[in-house]
Amino acid sequence: MGKPRAFATRPLFPEARAVLEKYFGTEYWTSADRMTRPELLKRVSGCEALVCVITEKVDEELLSAAPKLRIAATVSVGYDHIDVDACTRHKVAVTNTPGVLDDTTADLAWALLMAVARRLVEADTWVRSGTWTGWDIDQLVGADIHGKTLGIVGLGRIGRRMARRAQGFEMRVIYSNRTRAELAVEKDLRAQFVDMDTLLRESDFVSLHVPLLPGTRHLIAAESFAKMKAASFLINTTRGAVVDEAALVDALKNKKIAGAALDVYEREPLVHPGLLGLKNVVLAPHIGSASVETRTKMSVMAAENAVALFEGRRPPNVLNPEVLAL
Ligand code: DGY
Repeated sequence: MGKPRAFATRPLFPEARAVLEKYFGTEYWTSADRMTRPELLKRVSGCEALVCVITEKVDEELLSAAPKLRIAATVSVGYDHIDVDACTRHKVAVTNTPGVLDDTTADLAWALLMAVARRLVEADTWVRSGTWTGWDIDQLVGADIHGKTLGIVGLGRIGRRMARRAQGFEMRVIYSNRTRAELAVEKDLRAQFVDMDTLLRESDFVSLHVPLLPGTRHLIAAESFAKMKAASFLINTTRGAVVDEAALVDALKNKKIAGAALDVYEREPLVHPGLLGLKNVVLAPHIGSASVETRTKMSVMAAENAVALFEGRRPPNVLNPEVLAL
């Protein structure tokens, strides 16, 4: 009997390919061109395993096109691109890659926070333009970071890594979360639990770390910006739709807040045109987990999840374990 067939929507990394190929006959999308939807549906149609990323929607249409599919293993912690309920109905296990990207994502959130506060992108652009005439007293004066208040929305794994980084900058850390963290965690992170209104009113930097769920869509909207300090900054490295992007543009243009640094957008790869002309925003192309080490770990994890299922083991990061009993 031949090996089961897997399709990986990216070439992944050699370490992950080695894991997959021991078990599956694997096809990879290696072209530099983006795969079209019809191409994806064609490639996955005869496969038992799919290793995908956040740009592929795994929905009713895909599941119907791939009747043999048993697992959709995404190389991401977020899985809002996957209709998990539909997968469960089709008896397809869904797995993600939590844990391994926390520090790398917090590093990027921190880099964005610093870049927007200290106007690093404006500074770089100016120096490259050849028009800088030398030091001056009020050139590109930004905002201090040390000693300020960081508001963390969502004290999960990545939020906690942010709190840890804030200690090095002697910041006050406040957080809001569905449930309060254990006292030992609060003590260790020197983080104070507050309600969302207090967080918005008191933070100099608001950093978002909640997943995109029906209840967190547009969590930050016009009413939120009205509560924030005029000198504050918004940092978003989670999912674009957690913020109402049009309201953000309005807040930035009307100086309701001082700036924003974004790695994610409501309609990726589209960016609200109102953001593009603003100097008080730093824009990154969804690179939160983009280090060689972390993307390698994520790819290996996704491959191991797929292999586990076919070896009759519970995939370590299964999101709908009920399908394993079906
Ligand atoms: C994730 O893992 O969800 C990121 O957004 C992509 O790495």
